[in-house]
This record gives sequence, structure tokens and C-alpha cells, in this order.
Amino acid sequence: MASEITRLKGKVAVVTGAAQGIGRGIAMRLAEEGAKVAVADINESGAAKTAAELNAAGAAACAIRLDVTSLKDAKAAADAVERQLGPVDILVNNAGWDKVQHFLDTDEELWNRLIDINFRGVLNCVKAFAPRMLTRPGSKIISIASDAGRSGGVNDAVYSGCKGAVMSFTKALARELARYQINVNAVAPGVIDTPLSQAISGGIPGYMDRLMRVVPLRRKGLPEDIAAAVAYLASPDADYVTGQIISVNGGMAM
Ligand SMILES: NC(=O)c1ccc[n+]([C@@H]2O[C@H](COP(=O)([O-])OP(=O)(O)OC[C@H]3O[C@@H](n4cnc5c(N)ncnc54)[C@H](O)[C@@H]3O)[C@@H](O)[C@H]2O)c1
Repeated sequence: MASEITRLKGKVAVVTGAAQGIGRGIAMRLAEEGAKVAVADINESGAAKTAAELNAAGAAACAIRLDVTSLKDAKAAADAVERQLGPVDILVNNAGWDKVQHFLDTDEELWNRLIDINFRGVLNCVKAFAPRMLTRPGSKIISIASDAGRSGGVNDAVYSGCKGAVMSFTKALARELARYQINVNAVAPGVIDTPLSQAISGGIPGYMDRLMRVVPLRRKGLPEDIAAAVAYLASPDADYVTGQIISVNGGMAM
């Protein structure tokens, strides 16, 4: 793992949902920049695989089983990360899930699942990890929202609502934690090539082509594109940045 950038040397980061997709890309990038990384995911074998890849590349990493919908799990994960890697400086709330469906065809079961993972999951992890950051000025909390939370996604109303909630929560929390010199920001991806977006677009013919027509840079984003923005927000370069939502979307929404 040879990176010329060592902005995160000596820092401990936890990335939720890091078994695959964007979270995996973030874990890789933070490790490249020198952080020790806890790969936290409900998919234990996937988390173990990402952590093993990081260790093989010379980084210090561990896998943690975490279901973000459970506050109890999140608190246990906070203990486990601290035991294995040390006090956490960087929390990345990345775990998320989506299923597209016309709102009038959705039921409460789907709403609850979407809200529990995409919004409550962020609350649980902040509640579990942030109290330990209060004595560590310069700590960073970064959540992965979505441009759907800004613009609204068709057949994606509840998910869009959750991501909008993540953005508002980010701003309010940024105000509350500023007195501790803790920065709280979010990254809002556009369309990123991951197992999640492949699963969604795979079921709808022509979906990705239609989406690409409204992306000025004319390509899907990669997990690395999101990871670069997260690494910036996690670093001392962003010490004067808080309460912000950075879209990384090829210009899809401006
Ligand atoms: N891919 C996109 O186009 C896109 C666009 C905007 C926002 N996002 C957001 O980016 C984040 C990552 O998405 P992705 O595309 O990489 O998805 P993905 O499905 O490829 O990966 C998500 C990861 O989260 C984990 N996860 C799901 N539920 C969990 C739970 N309850 N507890 C812990 N881990 C859990 C999964 O096991 C998986 O490893 C999500 O928050 C998503 O909403 C993605």
C-alpha cells in the first residue's frame, strides 16, 4: 500500500458497509492515506475479505460485524473497534440500501427497512461512536447521502426522503459538535457503479442509458470518485469545513 499522501497517518477510521461498493473503495483510500481501518458490515465474510485485502497491502485493518439498524450492535462495534485499533478519529456512515418502486405500490415493511438502514443506521452509529470523539478534537464524521436526497429520485421517494434526512441531520449535528472541533459533513453521490446500482439498473431496461444522458461528464462514477471526497473531508485539509454536503455526481445535479 504505497501512497504519497499520508494525511491520515495515525488515524483510526471506521467505515460502515465496507464489504463492497463505495464503502470498500472508501476503506481502501483511507488506508492508502495511512489510516487504520475497521471494515464494518452486516456481511461478515465480505467485511473479512476487504480487511484481508487491506492487511495484505500493508495496512492495519480489522473486520467488524455490524448491523447499523441496531443501536446495541453499533455500541458493541464501537467497543470492538477501540479494542482492536484504538480510539476512533473518523466515522464514515456509508451502509445503505435501496429498492426502487412507485411510492403508491410500496408498503410499510419496505418503508421501515429503508428508514432503518438509510437514516436510523446513521443515528445509531453517531450515537455509538461520537461520544468517544468528544475528547478528540479534529475528529470527523462523514455520511454518504445521495443526490436523490436533493432532487428526489423517481420511484425512490422513501429512499430520497431518508437521504434528505441524512443531509439535514448532518447540518444540525455539525452545529452541535462544532464546540468540540468535530467536523460533520456528507458526500452525495450521483450514479456510482456498485453492486447496488447494478442490481437496480439490471432490473429496468434502458435505465442506465437514460440516466447517463443527464450526466454532463457522460460516465458512471466509481467508488474511487466518492472515496477521494471522503478522504479530503476526513483529513486536516477539511478542518474548516463543516455542515457541508459535497455532491460527487459528474454534474448530474448542480
Ligand atoms: N451506488 C450508487 O449509485 C449510489 C448513489 C447514491 C448514494 N449511494 C449510497 O452509497 C452508499 C453505498 O452504496 P453502494 O452502492 O456501495 O451499495 P452496495 O449495496 O454495493 O454496498 C452497501 C454495503 O452496505 C452493507 N449494508 C447493508 N445493510 C447494512 C446494515 N444493516 N448494516 C451494515 N451494513 C449494511 C452491505 O452489506 C454492503 O456491503 C449507500 O449509503 C448508498 O445509499 C449509492
